[in-house]
Amino acid sequence: MRLCSPLLLCLAAALSSAFVISSTQMWTKLILTHHWPSTFCVMEPCHPNISYWTLHGLWPDKGVECNSSWHFNSSQIEDLLPDMEKSWPDLLHPSSTGFWKYEWHKHGTCAAKAASLDSQHKYFSKALELYHKVDLDSILKKFDITPSDKYYTFSQIEGVIENFYRVKPKIQCVHPSKNADAQILGQIEICFNPDFTLLDCDKHGYWDNRMAGDKASGFSVCDHDTPVYYPPLQ
Ligand SMILES: *[C@@H]1O[C@H](CO)[C@@H](O)[C@H](O)[C@H]1NC(C)=O
Ligand SMILES: *[C@@H]1O[C@H](CO)[C@@H](O)[C@H](O)[C@H]1NC(C)=O
Ligand SMILES: *[C@@H]1O[C@H](CO)[C@@H](O)[C@H](O)[C@H]1NC(C)=O
Repeated sequence: MRLCSPLLLCLAAALSSAFVISSTQMWTKLILTHHWPSTFCVMEPCHPNISYWTLHGLWPDKGVECNSSWHFNSSQIEDLLPDMEKSWPDLLHPSSTGFWKYEWHKHGTCAAKAASLDSQHKYFSKALELYHKVDLDSILKKFDITPSDKYYTFSQIEGVIENFYRVKPKIQCVHPSKNADAQILGQIEICFNPDFTLLDCDKHGYWDNRMAGDKASGFSVCDHDTPVYYPPLQ
C-alpha cells in the first residue's frame, strides 16, 4: 500500500499534466474539411440544392472548445457573410448562423491560439481564403471527377487530388451497409501547416482529428477496394 499510493499519485499527476499539455499546446496541423451536400443529406434531414463542395470547417489538430467564454458574434464577420452563405452554408438550417457558431466554439477558439487566427474575422476569413485557394470543386471537375450514376474507383479520386496538390488528402465516405455495392463519397480534407502551406493529412497526427472529427456523423475513411458513388443532385 505504501508503494501504491505514491505510484497512483504519480500516475494521476502524469495524466493531468498530459491533459494540460494537450489542451494548451499549439496545434501543428489545420484540416480544411469539405463536404458534399447530397451525401450529407443522405444522413441528415435536409434536401440538398447545392451541387458543389462546401466548407464543413477549418480544424486544428489539437483541442476542441478551447474557450467557452469567447462567444460567436456574426457582426464581426459582417463583410464575409455573403461568401459564408455561399461557401459555408448550414445545410440543415439554411438561413441560420448556428453552424458557424458551432464551428467557432468547437474549433475556432482552438485555432485562435495562433496569432494568425486570433479573432473571429481572422479565423473565418482564412478558412474562406484557403477554401477558394484549394478550389477543390473546380479541380475535381477539371480532371473529370463529376457527380455521376457511374461509380469511380477510390484511386481515381484520390489520384486526381494527390497529383494536383502533391499532398495526401483524407477522403471519407458513407458506408450504407455491409453488403452495399458502393460507398458514397462524402467528405474531403486537405491539410495545412501552421504557415498555411499544404501538408499530407497523415502527417503529425498527434490527436489526428479523432477529437476534432465527426465520428457521430457516419463518415469514415473510404475503403480502397469498394467502388465510390459520387451522387448527383436528385
Ligand atoms: C437552397 O435552399 C435554401 C432554402 O430553401 C435557400 O435559402 C438557398 O438559397 C438555396 N440555395 C441554392 C444554391 O439554390
Ligand atoms: C477567452 O476569450 C475571452 C473573450 O475573447 C478572452 O477575454 C480570454 O482572454 C480568453 N481566454 C483565454 C484563456 O484565451
Ligand atoms: C458583436 O460585435 C460588434 C462589433 O464588433 C459589437 O459592437 C457588439 O457589441 C458585439 N456583440 C456582443 C454581444 O458582444
